[in-house]
Amino acid sequence: MSIAQPPIPVRETPAAMIPQPNPAFPDASAEPVLDMDEIQGNIIPGFLKDFETLLFLSITDPGQCKEWIKHITPFIATAEEVLTFNRLFKQIRYRRGYEAGTVKATWVNIAFSFQGLRKLRPDADQFTDQAFKDGLAAHSKDLGDPTGENDEGNPKNWVIGGPGNEADILLIVQSDDYEDMQHEVQRIKQSIYDLLSGRTRVPSGVELLYEEYGANPPGRLSGHEHFGFLDGVSKPGIRGRVSNDPHDVLTPRQNPRDPHQGKPGQDLLWPGEFVFGYQHQDPSREVEKPSDDKASAGPDWAKDGSYLIFRRLRQDVGAFHAFLHAHGQQVGVPPAFLGTKIIGRWPDGEPIMRDQQAGNQLVLGNDDCANNDFEFVHQDPSLHNPSSQLPPDELPPAGTSDQCHIPQVPNSSFMPSPGDPTGEICPFAGHIRKAYPRDDITPAGRGKASGRDEESDLSERATQTHRLLRRGLPYGPISPSAFGNPVHDQVDRGLLFIAYQTSIERQFEFVIKAWVNNRDFSQQGAGFDLVIGQNSQDNRQRTATISLNPVQNQTLQLQANQEWVIPTGGGYFFAPSISALKKELSS
Ligand code: HEM
Repeated sequence: MSIAQPPIPVRETPAAMIPQPNPAFPDASAEPVLDMDEIQGNIIPGFLKDFETLLFLSITDPGQCKEWIKHITPFIATAEEVLTFNRLFKQIRYRRGYEAGTVKATWVNIAFSFQGLRKLRPDADQFTDQAFKDGLAAHSKDLGDPTGENDEGNPKNWVIGGPGNEADILLIVQSDDYEDMQHEVQRIKQSIYDLLSGRTRVPSGVELLYEEYGANPPGRLSGHEHFGFLDGVSKPGIRGRVSNDPHDVLTPRQNPRDPHQGKPGQDLLWPGEFVFGYQHQDPSREVEKPSDDKASAGPDWAKDGSYLIFRRLRQDVGAFHAFLHAHGQQVGVPPAFLGTKIIGRWPDGEPIMRDQQAGNQLVLGNDDCANNDFEFVHQDPSLHNPSSQLPPDELPPAGTSDQCHIPQVPNSSFMPSPGDPTGEICPFAGHIRKAYPRDDITPAGRGKASGRDEESDLSERATQTHRLLRRGLPYGPISPSAFGNPVHDQVDRGLLFIAYQTSIERQFEFVIKAWVNNRDFSQQGAGFDLVIGQNSQDNRQRTATISLNPVQNQTLQLQANQEWVIPTGGGYFFAPSISALKKELSS
């Protein structure tokens, strides 16, 4: 007798088989054709591998380093290669029904700090993003990081990226297979220690400063970060085609109700938000409309590149779980429920905004057609709500089963999001609401229009200019701690947070300073993001307002006297195009 097992969450669930290019998608001729052979593959579409090594290098001899860059450039994975692989991977997974390991790949990408670029290019000063030029360590205090001499979070004590310990180059190696990754890392190290130029061995001009290993947890923990929540669920949709075909788009258009979304709830943004050389969002226009100009980093050769943020964030899992346990007991709610309020999603990824039906969290969390289909202010006509199914004559022709209104899970019908303008369901302090407030009214729109809908619209136009392309993976061993049974084991584990964007100031730093660390965002008294927020004042104590039971009007004022996410390394980098590597950075 076989026992049915619940599905193991995968890092990106397939909505259905998506042939691409796809004539069922809306015509995207107005969107640019992306230089897929130029853009590095971890920017778009993203590696999404299970194993990762980060190599941090220092340039010791710029002339020799250029030779080494020449050597490594053919190994740098392009967006074209990674997209082709990802499409094949999904196709096979869909046909086989599980991740069979039939196709595997190992990818490498590269990025440079401002100081690194300066060693190689006299015109590096043309970069305009001041945060990139100053570097992360110099901005750490402004981001709220600890400043005490002995504080682990003080850049002086970081394992990499503190003063005098900043990397010039970051190499990202990711693979589906641990041993394949090790081979690639060894090959790269060999080139660093002993570069072969023709038949002669020459110094590489680079030196290994630091090495870090990360991995997607195995089995049922797949895709989860160390606190126990599914990560990487919500990602910005990116406009743009990958060939001249008007239907060959980077982000599949799976929402039959809204041509401006990828998956339901995934708003499409103009690619200049994440890659230089393309039109970007313009907050003075509707979200769907592009800017007149194209995103520019300064130097011409920065086209098709992107800024990369790296933060090594140690997670004190025992401390977080103990906090949930103690406060949960106080008010009589399970610790996992309190954690869910603090994140904004259940551990299995289900958004708390669509949480009215108990019991099918895993199913909803694992359904990409439903798990982002919500707003905060407005009620959403969900596709997975039986009352909002399209009438039969509006259904696409048989055989194009790529649209989200055909439920992936038979009989699954999730309740729609009711909207939550007062923060009763998802607290304003919730991590996902702080880091991406969707249609919430923010200072960008508040008081600037006659009605709530207009205020929300103006706010969202601005909000969409503060998005991040996240590419993080956990590091360190899995924690024995659980929500109901906190374990303090003093083991170093956490998140290797990586995000791409075209403005460090307007995207990563803005989100941290104006939203996450701001107790009055997006509403007065909302409190801090209790996951990553930092309070550089008040003895670093963080407060947050959490509504527990809207019916009984039960609200909890939480106070955290310690942090459980501690910065222990990092850096600001720029990931150039393949042409820039070949021409500007290796000659
Ligand atoms: C150890 C630190 C962190 C943990 C444990 C963590 C955890 C999570 C989890 C569980 C989610 C929900 C799943 C998802 O939508 O992907 C999430 C979403 C998100 N996080 Fe974090 N995160 C961390 C650090 C950061 C940092 C440093 C940022 C930078 C601002 C950030 C920004 C975001 C954003 C933008 C979202 C998506 C919100 C949305 O689109 O709905 N996170 N995070």
